Amino acid sequence: TQPLRLGIAGLGTVGAAVVGMVARRAEALSASGRTVAVTAVSARDKSRDRGLDLSGFAWFDDPVALAQSDAIDVFVELVGGAEGPAKAAVEAAIASGKHVVTANKALLARHGAALAKAAEEKGVALAYEASVAGGIPVIKAIREGLAGNAVSRVYGILNGTCNYILSRMEAEGLTFEACLKDAQALGYAEADPTFDVEGFDTAHKLAILTSLAFGVEIDADGVSVEGISAIQPLDLAMADELGYRIKLLGVAQATEAGIEQRVHPTMVAKASAIAQVMGVTNAVTVDADAVGELTLIGPGAGGKATASAVVADIADVAAGVRRPTFGRPVAALSAPRRVEMQRH
Ligand code: HSE
Repeated sequence: TQPLRLGIAGLGTVGAAVVGMVARRAEALSASGRTVAVTAVSARDKSRDRGLDLSGFAWFDDPVALAQSDAIDVFVELVGGAEGPAKAAVEAAIASGKHVVTANKALLARHGAALAKAAEEKGVALAYEASVAGGIPVIKAIREGLAGNAVSRVYGILNGTCNYILSRMEAEGLTFEACLKDAQALGYAEADPTFDVEGFDTAHKLAILTSLAFGVEIDADGVSVEGISAIQPLDLAMADELGYRIKLLGVAQATEAGIEQRVHPTMVAKASAIAQVMGVTNAVTVDADAVGELTLIGPGAGGKATASAVVADIADVAAGVRRPTFGRPVAALSAPRRVEMQRH
């Protein structure tokens, strides 16, 4: 069989790590019988030193041209952003019969339903393990692992940048701004960190999890959102005195009015499991009827950890795995409801 040819769009922290990982793990990735290789890449700046030898790859300045190119079978979208080149390129890839692997939670939160429909009509995969909780294989866990369960609640820490900031503010008494700068330098934050600190990134990820866990259309506008930018060192100190930590949680739960989705800073008891989750680590807890309570904890951002999830999807595509992209809509969402700081 022909090798599965990958085109990587976006060579930032994650893209560079994917290129390295595919090369390093080539043998293991070909276990399904099909070898996997990066053949083409696109990025904004060709001259930037990424510590990678790009000479063996076809170079494209434009991700849409890469997406349409005959030189690839799988379009790996690591550009980011709900609109603009990322959206145009994913649409072009699907239209030209390419499988798509993406880490783009904003794109899926806004256009996931339409993209999934287009991919299913074309018979190509739209895989997005890396879009939620970085290296934690939470999409596969919920969609495949819990397929026999009725889920009543999903909640967790879904933004590594915010958890990193809150953890360091608390432990080292640093300012919000200093911690955010470090999170950016470490490659955790979004291109526009407002998405992290105002809770939108958590809302995008939550909307994806809600869709999978409850069988509803993805609806990021249906999430009530409050971020952490107003949290002061004093808030953390007060919470500490009461025996709590402050975490930014995303919560989706079944209520009588429908599935409720919300993102807000939450006081969690220091003795609780979720309070132990510090730094860039994410945690996702699912309450489900058969399995009971299940928690997954792991790295929520960063090049290698996120590449781990991207490469898992590439392995699925190589093995010929095709699954329905999201659950079939069977439930309804409730209207967004504003929630004040809660104890959890
Ligand atoms: N900016 C995101 C975070 C990256 O900090 O969690 C991973 O989606």
